[in-house]
Order: sequence, then structure tokens, then C-alpha cells
Amino acid sequence: MSDTQQSIQWFPGHMAKTRRKIKEILPFIDAVAEVVDARIPMSSRNPELKSLIGDKPHIILLNKCDMADKAVTDGWIKYYKSQSIAAIPIDCKSGKGLNAFKDTVKTVLADRLETYAKKGMVGKPLRVMVVGIPNVGKSSFINRIAGNTKAKVENRPGVTRGNQWFTIDKQLELLDTPGVLWPKFEDQTVGERLAFTGAVKDRILDTELLAMRLLENLSADYRELLIKRYGELDFDCDSYDLLSQIGKKRGMVIRGGETDTERAANMLLEEYRNCKIGFISLERAGENA
Ligand code: G4P
Repeated sequence: MSDTQQSIQWFPGHMAKTRRKIKEILPFIDAVAEVVDARIPMSSRNPELKSLIGDKPHIILLNKCDMADKAVTDGWIKYYKSQSIAAIPIDCKSGKGLNAFKDTVKTVLADRLETYAKKGMVGKPLRVMVVGIPNVGKSSFINRIAGNTKAKVENRPGVTRGNQWFTIDKQLELLDTPGVLWPKFEDQTVGERLAFTGAVKDRILDTELLAMRLLENLSADYRELLIKRYGELDFDCDSYDLLSQIGKKRGMVIRGGETDTERAANMLLEEYRNCKIGFISLERAGENA
């Protein structure tokens, strides 16, 4: 279980500490690689990151793209490109897309490399700080890229005992976020979307309500996938009725012929999270991105 579920109440204190640590380390890094969940690239971000990193070169890693809707992920890549932000889709479960990371860093930091070359500092590595809210796959990304390289502690600026640096090769070093970056929990939609994906535990939310909200989202954009998974459904009803229909189709009936909607809700959420309904993205580029 990630820290998110247990520590929501710690949000203000934790962010203050993280904010300070990031500000301290910023002069020693060349770029920021932000890991987000490709299914919810807006909700899986820290709202303060932009202002924290200022004009530091920024790369967005759309992780878990194996679970997202490819057409929507492509839309995000196009959108970021239009904003002059480098973004690549990655899948840290299989390692797909990770080969593009080093080249993307070099492209984003081409000016810096040129300056180093001019000054004869050819061996100077590029330093990238990897950030991401809990559960987006930041550790999986670092493990994939860094392999067995150990965090090292050295006596040089920015490399203090608390900071986890990874040497990837002679040209690239990664730093794990010094602290925890939280999502925008106070926004209900953000909280819901994180809960749909499983980044926030259900027990702090009402499961039926969550499943109903998920169904509202899926009915709008992925009706065909719902029908394919659960059979013909009547969408001309509220989301509770829709959940009941789905439960009934799965034989989740209790005494009196009523549907066990709590069981149906758990089943729906589990099937969404395991991509049994399909590859589904819940946020599209252009929607207040
Ligand atoms: P964090 O450091 O950002 O908190 O995230 P972490 O790497 O721990 O990953 C959180 C969960 O997401 C893990 O699953 C991990 O396996 C999964 N994950 C990370 N990247 C990808 C990806 O690209 N695709 C898919 N499908 N899953 C990904 P878990 O259930 O918490 O643990 P486990 O299944 O690895 O045991």
C-alpha cells in the first residue's frame, strides 16, 4: 500500500518540508522528469510543482500507458508538444517506451550539453530529478532505469545523505524526489479519479458512490466497452440503476430479488483497475489541462 492512503491528513506539513527540500536541491539539477498516470494526467499531478520548479526544463512521463486508451495518450503527447513540453508514454511494468527517456533528456537539455562541450566539460553528467505523486510508478520507473545502481552518498553540493541519487551512466544521474508530493486532494474530482485507479484506498470513500461515479464517466465515453463486458444495458437511467443492472447480469442478487450493489460496485472497480473493461483513460487533453 502506498503512503497516500494512510497519510492524507499529513498533507500541509509534508508539503512544506518537500517544498523546502526541492527549493534547496533545484540549483543542482538540470531538469525535472515528472511521472504521471497516463489515464489521469491532470489529477495525478502535484498542483504546486509548476511554481516549485519555475523554468527548469521539464519532461512528462505518461506512465501506465499499458492501461490507458492509446488514442487519448497520443492526444496528450500532441497537446504537450503544442505547449513545447517533452512528453513520452512509458510502461514501467514491461519497460516499454523507456528507451526514449535518455534521448529525450538529451534533446531537452541540448543547450546545456552544447555549453558543456564549449567549456570542455564533456564528462559532466546531466542531473534529472524524478518527481511524482505516490502510486504513479515513480519507484518502478527509477528501478527500471537505474537497474541495480545503488543510491550513492558523496561529499559534493546537492548530494547530502537524505538525497537519493542514482548513476545511470556517465552522462546521466537521477535524483528521487526529496520528500512527498501530494495530489490536489481538496478537489473532489481529483480524489475520485485517484480512487478509480486505486491510488487512494476505497475504505476512505463510499464504494457504491465511487462505482456510480465511475459509471457516469464510462457511460459518457466508453459505453461500447461496458456493453461488450456486461451485455446490453439500458443507459436511460441513473448510475445506481445502471450499477444494479450490471450486478444483476453477474447474478449478484440478494433476498427479495434485489441486486447486491455493494458487491457489484467492488466488482466494477476491480474490473476497471485490472483493465478487464478495456483500456480506459479518464482525462483527455484539452479538458482544462
Ligand atoms: P510510486 O513509487 O509512484 O508510489 O509507485 P510504484 O512504483 O510503487 O507503483 C505503484 C503501482 O503501480 C505498483 O503496483 C506498480 O507495479 C504499478 N505500476 C507502476 N508502473 C506501472 C506501469 O507502467 N503499468 C502498470 N500496469 N502498472 C504499473 P502495486 O499493485 O502497488 O504493486 P505490484 O503489483 O508491483 O506488487
